[in-house]
Amino acid sequence: MSNADFERILETSDEWIVSRTGMRERRYASDAQASSDLATHAADHALKRAGLRAEDIDCFIVATVTPDYQFPATACIVAANLGAVGKPAFDIEIACSGFIYGLPMAASFVRSGIFRRVMIVGVETLSRIMNFNDRGTSILFGDGAGATIVERTSAGADCFLDCELGADGSNPELLFVKSGGSRHPMTTAALAAGEDKVQMSGREIFKYAVNTMVGTAKLVLARSGLTTNDVNWIIPHQANLRIIEAAAKRLHVPRKKIVVNIENYGNTSSASIPIALSETIERGVLHEGDVILFTGFGGGLSWGSVAWRWSY
Ligand code: COA
Repeated sequence: MSNADFERILETSDEWIVSRTGMRERRYASDAQASSDLATHAADHALKRAGLRAEDIDCFIVATVTPDYQFPATACIVAANLGAVGKPAFDIEIACSGFIYGLPMAASFVRSGIFRRVMIVGVETLSRIMNFNDRGTSILFGDGAGATIVERTSAGADCFLDCELGADGSNPELLFVKSGGSRHPMTTAALAAGEDKVQMSGREIFKYAVNTMVGTAKLVLARSGLTTNDVNWIIPHQANLRIIEAAAKRLHVPRKKIVVNIENYGNTSSASIPIALSETIERGVLHEGDVILFTGFGGGLSWGSVAWRWSY
């Protein structure tokens, strides 16, 4: 879905979208595809790249706000699709911070010895919950999936360096889908009012995003005994190019260290960081021992940063 496609259905322009967000295209799942289908595809890709089979994974975590069903968990369906029936599988729902929260969770399982290998998939079919009459939100979001496998390294070195996570639920309506939950069950009137779609206060979130990303990134690096000079890659949540650039400026990190792919996908929520990580691997620029800073924010509001030392 290109900016030109939006020009045809809304009062907007390519110039406005590119200058305010950095986005040019987003990808949407076909009508036949649900989140579990995209997630299974990404999971399969990750398994092949790692030279593993589904039975080698001890636990499946899916981060999503667009599950196949309200319940059961999409992770159960993904594990079954992969042929891993019987393995533990569960979802986490913390909006765009899903992967940032899930990564330390996976690392803790591995560190503690509860599981040897944990797969974490970020997946969204946000096109299903967009209000295409609202130019302030519909242009921002896309569909996608990214999968990672966290395992104990052969050398036994600890690759998970540190994390700082946070949430403030005092204003959930800053970014939410109003109806369909226990507070406002779905009604015909709610449907007619578009309350099954995303609503957002963009300006407030913008400020929050930059402050929380920068604040948590600084804390995580300081506690890991690192400075931004030690960081090889910053992989931020891809919500808005201006947010990413403002955060990078305040962290004094050169642009070449920041992974940005927002122009191709828009904001894919919990999928954005694992997709960007996957593309960084494909570019062949991620080396053994590189330090990666993952940082993001999202509905909740929620936010966090994770420092990670890369090891294959
Ligand atoms: N095309 C053209 N004009 C648009 C538009 C669009 N797609 N969307 C909004 N506008 C208009 C607004 O109606 C407003 O017009 P007005 O001044 O006549 O009222 C004007 O542009 C400015 O709107 P504003 O909301 O102040 O723009 P902005 O510079 O803050 O950019 C966002 C809007 C949404 C791009 C920006 O606030 C943002 O990215 N916020 C963070 C959102 C986010 O990251 N959400 C996901 C969290 S994980």
